[in-house]
Amino acid sequence: MTLPNRSSRLSGFHRQSPPDRLAAVAAFAGLDAATVGHLADFGNLDPHLADRLIENVIGTMNVPVGIATNLKVDGRDVLVPMATEESSVVAAVCNAARQCYDAGGIVTSMSGPLMIAQVQLVQVRDPHSARVKILEKREEVKAACDACDPVLVSLGGGFRDLEVRVLDTLGGPMVITHLIVDTRDAMGANAVNSMAERLAPRFEAWTGGKVYLRILSNLADRRVARARAVWPVDAIGGPAIGGLEVRDGMISAYQFAEADPYRAATHNKGIMNGVSAVVLATGNDTRAVEAGAHAYAARGGRYTSLSRWEVTADGDLAGVLELPMAVGLIGGATKLHPTARACLAILGVGTAEELARVIAAVGLAQNFSALKALATTGIQKGHMALHAQNIALMAGAVGEEVDAVARALVARGEVRVDVAAEELGRLRGRRGD
Ligand code: MEV
Repeated sequence: MTLPNRSSRLSGFHRQSPPDRLAAVAAFAGLDAATVGHLADFGNLDPHLADRLIENVIGTMNVPVGIATNLKVDGRDVLVPMATEESSVVAAVCNAARQCYDAGGIVTSMSGPLMIAQVQLVQVRDPHSARVKILEKREEVKAACDACDPVLVSLGGGFRDLEVRVLDTLGGPMVITHLIVDTRDAMGANAVNSMAERLAPRFEAWTGGKVYLRILSNLADRRVARARAVWPVDAIGGPAIGGLEVRDGMISAYQFAEADPYRAATHNKGIMNGVSAVVLATGNDTRAVEAGAHAYAARGGRYTSLSRWEVTADGDLAGVLELPMAVGLIGGATKLHPTARACLAILGVGTAEELARVIAAVGLAQNFSALKALATTGIQKGHMALHAQNIALMAGAVGEEVDAVARALVARGEVRVDVAAEELGRLRGRRGD
């Protein structure tokens, strides 16, 4: 469809109500009535709340929430809500968790809830002296940071440490200060950004330099969640492929990811399939966690696998995952979005740390299933069963037709829309439709 060249300069758009904005967008894009009606339905999110969460709201984007079953984390059985549009992701966690459930499930731990705020000082004539001058002011920095957030301090959080580096950059030396803050059950972005902004004028006064950036680091390497589990070889084998072969194939897959950034990116993407789905379901910031994970994977100077896999003394398969996990239970969508609140209620976590640890467990389980599938039957077999249903829907199948067409596609080994249309026609023909 070719549309006339209309202007995207919609004056006053941000002040309009969501229905008025939608009308303006519909006129701009030439949307038909059915599409407008679809967008106008906010589902289970109050339009007023949606309009407060972000700007220029016209609708919502619903993503399915599925429940990962079979998980035992630190001895506690948990049902984990996962929000994702990708088929097989939830099933993968269920399968991996089932195969280590009897061996004790997944054990987790956490380094602590510390976030880092960075303050960038430039144009400092004597950067090394400036660095030490800032370090000398530790008590003043602590008092100023804590004064920014008395509630956080009353909950046991607040300033913990000060680190200052002289960084060589293309623009000359910069003095980079890290404010290290215990943000308790908050993700902490607002808390640490406020502290960095509050401190900036003092750093300028103490050093004679100029502050530009005052912002948290998403490389939250003081907030690392860890998960480990053992999968007995007897539990991971099947009739076609024995447990030892599965184990060795998975170890080899890990070694590939460890050695090669091209493979590590995909390996870690699989881990993030699980991690991001829980982060999203609980209203947390998926981009923050993803940025932290990938930066952490490259912290040694070479991008590599976030997980490690090895053989135990008993010959079983052991997996370990460690990654920064800056998630919270208070603030933002976590508190406001009713679906996020419901998902947190299902999880039954009482602290941000518990949430972070469950998320790490899900990431490890996800990685297990991906490696197992890749090292044995390949990813497409399991994926295609669900994907075939999507293709059947795209071809116009409804109700019971979806399963019937999907089964036919899988049996033919041709999961394509044209084949689905052909199968749908044949099915309807048989029924005399
Ligand atoms: C697909 O979304 C994720 C995988 O590619 C992960 C992996 O290759 O490890 C299957």
